[in-house]
Amino acid sequence: MTSDKITVPAVRARKKTGPKLAVLTAYDATMAALLDEGGADVLLVGDSLGTVVAGQPNTLCVTLEQICYHGRAVLRATRRAHVVGDMPFMSYQVSADKAVEAAGAMLREGGFEAVKLEGGEVVAEQIRRITSVGIPVMGHVGLTPQSVHAMGGYRVQGRTPEARARVLNDARAVEQAGAYSVVLEGIPTDLAREITEGIGIPTIGIGAGPHCDGQVLVCYDFLGMTRGSEPRFVKHFAELGEAAIAATRKYVSEVRDGSFPTLRHGYSSARTVPAPAETSDETEADEPEGVPS
Ligand code: KIV
Repeated sequence: MTSDKITVPAVRARKKTGPKLAVLTAYDATMAALLDEGGADVLLVGDSLGTVVAGQPNTLCVTLEQICYHGRAVLRATRRAHVVGDMPFMSYQVSADKAVEAAGAMLREGGFEAVKLEGGEVVAEQIRRITSVGIPVMGHVGLTPQSVHAMGGYRVQGRTPEARARVLNDARAVEQAGAYSVVLEGIPTDLAREITEGIGIPTIGIGAGPHCDGQVLVCYDFLGMTRGSEPRFVKHFAELGEAAIAATRKYVSEVRDGSFPTLRHGYSSARTVPAPAETSDETEADEPEGVPS
């Protein structure tokens, strides 16, 4: 473990010491390496992979095997960030015993450092049991995407006094059950502030305003790669979607008109090394460079 590795105690400590936790989702090694190098504190292999990677309408289709596969890819490329895996739908809801088994498989087979699961009071026993065997749990309350059908869509939670009390109670239940942090998704800003000030573990917001102890976004959203409509809580920190489309148009045009590839992008049959000054688009490369894709 490198000395600057973000651990569970380090995440907990940020509640008191700051700075705020910068959390992003990641699903593959290439993206994980970039986000880790950029200084993300936590990489979440979210079950959002069902929608953003697999193109499904919701997250309910994601399996334990798929989360573990993507987890291994992310972990191989991550040096500093703390890596958390989302517990898939129905891997923890049925019973605390099943939840412990599934969480164990995620650490053993996915290599995760912690698991995240959705729900408050109703999954408190699961959180208690999972943490009792030494597996750190990140909670997730408010808008819980695995309950999309029960919620009648992806709707902001906690807007009425009763719903507000429920979300508050869920956040407290998650903390009391032993979670080391909790995601607050899709709740009013003032409720997120009340929860953040009222509990002792870091809150990580998404669609929960500026008062949480950290923030999480889906990697494709913050990089401006998502096509179609986006929720108002998303901010683009780059326009890689536009850049990718422009690059593709250029590639298509160059392949079609024959300006790519040139001789420089091919290999010679004779193993002679041309002097650097001789290397041009008219000169074939001698040896492959880097790992072939
Ligand atoms: O699945 C996911 O990506 C998430 C976060 C966005 C909180 O749960």
